[in-house]
Amino acid sequence: MPSTPATPGCSRVEMTQIVLPQFANALGNVFGGQVVSWIDICAAVAAQRHCRGVVVTVSIDAVHFRLPIRLGDVVVLKAQVNEAFRTSVECGVRVESESPESGERTHAITAYATFVALDAEGRPRPIPPLVAATEEEKRRQAEARERRARRLEAR
Ligand SMILES: CC(C)(COP(=O)(O)OP(=O)(O)OC[C@H]1O[C@@H](n2cnc3c(N)ncnc32)[C@H](O)[C@@H]1OP(=O)(O)O)[C@@H](O)C(=O)NCCC(=O)NCCS
Repeated sequence: MPSTPATPGCSRVEMTQIVLPQFANALGNVFGGQVVSWIDICAAVAAQRHCRGVVVTVSIDAVHFRLPIRLGDVVVLKAQVNEAFRTSVECGVRVESESPESGERTHAITAYATFVALDAEGRPRPIPPLVAATEEEKRRQAEARERRARRLEAR
């Protein structure tokens, strides 16, 4: 049963990684698939915080790599739930690369992932609604609804 409504702040996650040699290609850039894996994990934690239980990834939107993330860079991922539907949530993830020398952070990727909450039998289960309070949260919520409509149409 859905319980108390939650704000996007209740689900917020920040995760930090360092690009070690095993995550990089011969050019010294991080593998795209590695970053997608970090995005999936960070967003899943945000989804689980909102849903208060186990979730599975049902969709990750196209991920665009805006600039290379280099060996030795610090990668900071920030995720939160943008909107909660009946049994699914959309999470937004912002990925920044941080220079270890200057500490300067650059926006590298924005990604959206959808998760479905499952019950003990592995069936989709209803989740708490999201309460968007600030103007920014309301904008994200409205945009998430539009993206969901496009996703389900393309399914
Ligand atoms: C997630 C899963 C249980 C959903 O099963 P289903 O039969 O599609 O269930 P439903 O039709 O009831 O859909 C459940 C929810 O997922 C949403 N959904 C389904 N496909 C979607 C897609 N491609 N994009 C976004 N949302 C989607 C539905 O809209 C519904 O959300 P709502 O209740 O909030 O409206 C099933 O697809 C599954 O097990 N997938 C594999 C998940 C997994 O193992 N992921 C790890 C990577 S392999």
